[in-house]
Amino acid sequence: MIDLSTTYLGLKLKTPLVPSASPLTQEFDNIKRLEEAGASAIVLHSVFEETPLKGTNEPASPFAALDRYLDLLRRAKESVRVPLIASLGGTSLKGWTEYARRLEQAGADALELNLYQVPSQADIAGSVLEDGYVEVVKAVRAAVKIPIAAKLTPFFTSMSNMTRRFEEAGANGLVLFNRFYQPDLNLDTMEIQPSVLLSTAQDLRVPLTWIGMLFGRVKVSLAGSSGVHSPEDALKLLLVGADVTMVCSVLLRHGISRLGDLESGLNGLMEKHRFKSVAEIKGKMSQIRSSDPTAFERAQYLNAVKGIERVVLTGCEAWRILSGDHS
Ligand SMILES: Cc1cc2nc3c(=O)[nH]c(=O)nc-3n(C[C@H](O)[C@H](O)[C@H](O)COP(=O)(O)O)c2cc1C
Repeated sequence: MIDLSTTYLGLKLKTPLVPSASPLTQEFDNIKRLEEAGASAIVLHSVFEETPLKGTNEPASPFAALDRYLDLLRRAKESVRVPLIASLGGTSLKGWTEYARRLEQAGADALELNLYQVPSQADIAGSVLEDGYVEVVKAVRAAVKIPIAAKLTPFFTSMSNMTRRFEEAGANGLVLFNRFYQPDLNLDTMEIQPSVLLSTAQDLRVPLTWIGMLFGRVKVSLAGSSGVHSPEDALKLLLVGADVTMVCSVLLRHGISRLGDLESGLNGLMEKHRFKSVAEIKGKMSQIRSSDPTAFERAQYLNAVKGIERVVLTGCEAWRILSGDHS
């Protein structure tokens, strides 16, 4: 019997498979179905801070979205047993803290702070935005007692330094990483197309790299999010040190029942490798435990690139990727 249990944000979970925030987790019925399919905790979709409108179009309740969210959270808390993590995206410090308090009061087991700001203004330096993110974590930490996780973008210049700052600010966990909205162009209509881009398994590499480098160097819990599409992907993230492996695109693409397949697949893989528990393998292949710590860094990138050579095949050029020892 394989023990898949893990601890995330101080919450004891029966497996590391946690559906992350998405439209899937904004429906009560889906939350129930996710629990039935084996979710060990569920992150609700994000509630975004609303600015009360002034003038004639002012809605009856200026915080209609928050009220709906709190209703969903309360209702879900009454009917599911797994921990529910509320996700919040604020715009002002007051909004972050007020919403966080309301979510805590409504029964959230933990909070995920969706620190998602597209840095499009040229007169705002990166350091100013970074200070702002850290302030948000500090303020929310002071406002609530439940554990908080910061969900980050991978685009910080110094991820390690920011991680330390988030930890010092009081975050209990980091979710690595959020996906940025990336619009496309429609060449038929010559319009910007706001299409949703689901991840592919290739997207696993960014959290794999960072969790592998951070494990053992930070005290916060680490959640891997991006590109978990198969049991193998989940196992890889655990091996580099993730406490939980979050899933979104794979469920949007294949349906909620895929969660059960991921769990049985993970069980099978662990058995195949003779691993007995998630606790035993967590971080086994992280940088800090590796016999070759440079494997995560630039030196190996140079070696990997050396392994790609140009070949000419009957008049057309191609690149051949060589495997093996490139030293
Ligand atoms: C359609 C869609 C909606 C999402 N909505 C949210 C959201 O409300 N809040 C949030 O923090 N992340 C949101 N995400 C990001 C996911 O939770 C997840 O972090 C990301 O998609 C990477 O994981 P994946 O590769 O398993 O999809 C959304 C993703 C998608 C595809």
